[in-house]
Amino acid sequence: MTFRIAQISDTHLSESKPFFVDNFVRIGEALRSAKPDLVLNTGDITLDGASQESDLAAARLLHDALGLPVRFIPGNHDLGDSPYGPSPGEHTIDAVRRARYLKHFGPDWWSFDIPGWRILGINAQLLGSDLPEAAEQESAVAHAMEGLGLRSLALFLHRPMFDKSPDETEIGGRFVHPEPRQRLLAAFGAVVPALVVCGHVHQYRESWSGSTRHVWGTSTGYVIPDRRQPRYGLKEVGYVEHTLRPDGTHRSELVRVPGVETLNIENFPGAYGPV
Ligand SMILES: [Fe+2]
Ligand SMILES: [Fe+2]
Repeated sequence: MTFRIAQISDTHLSESKPFFVDNFVRIGEALRSAKPDLVLNTGDITLDGASQESDLAAARLLHDALGLPVRFIPGNHDLGDSPYGPSPGEHTIDAVRRARYLKHFGPDWWSFDIPGWRILGINAQLLGSDLPEAAEQESAVAHAMEGLGLRSLALFLHRPMFDKSPDETEIGGRFVHPEPRQRLLAAFGAVVPALVVCGHVHQYRESWSGSTRHVWGTSTGYVIPDRRQPRYGLKEVGYVEHTLRPDGTHRSELVRVPGVETLNIENFPGAYGPV
């Protein structure tokens, strides 16, 4: 049986600042027609769940209203960023923010099996964090490599692992910090993921690193102007359909939803301030 995951990402939903809710609702209608086996939000579910619990609650209700199986992994705007990553005005992950996220969206790391695949979701903001759960998550990743057998591994996390190469040394808010990246890769042991999927950059991109396919899911809401962020791929909103076949092969494609406008964050200074 082929398994279809509809990846939505960077929905940035909010009760008090609902700028990106219309796009989410329209994409939700498309998802209800497409009837994927799973809708997976790869983080930045909320506009500011890191400081407003009402954003977490509102976002959860909007997802429940889809009437589809849903799973979540957190982004920096949902429970704060890794300690090395915060942009100006952003918060760092801590126990209180993480507990608030868990209350609304459930475990921040998880895995499950489908024919031919093991799907692993992790909390990218714990990478490089000094919370005790950072080590717990690392152990859970190592544990998830056991008994994999002939299954392919798909990893989902909010932040891209890197731009082009796992050996990159650039430190910033866009990619996983080099040190926790190496620790994560070490936790994989001999396992090479077939597919690594993220969000965070609000661009759609497909690339290869060795035998791993990296797919960046775009935002359902908005893109970031070129003067603030380089172009790595497509700056268009939508969702991504990942088709995972029992033989371990897969296909990922950007789905554009008619009537959904690619908004630009520079036109919404009320969201995060002027760009
Ligand atoms: Fe985002
Ligand atoms: Fe993000």
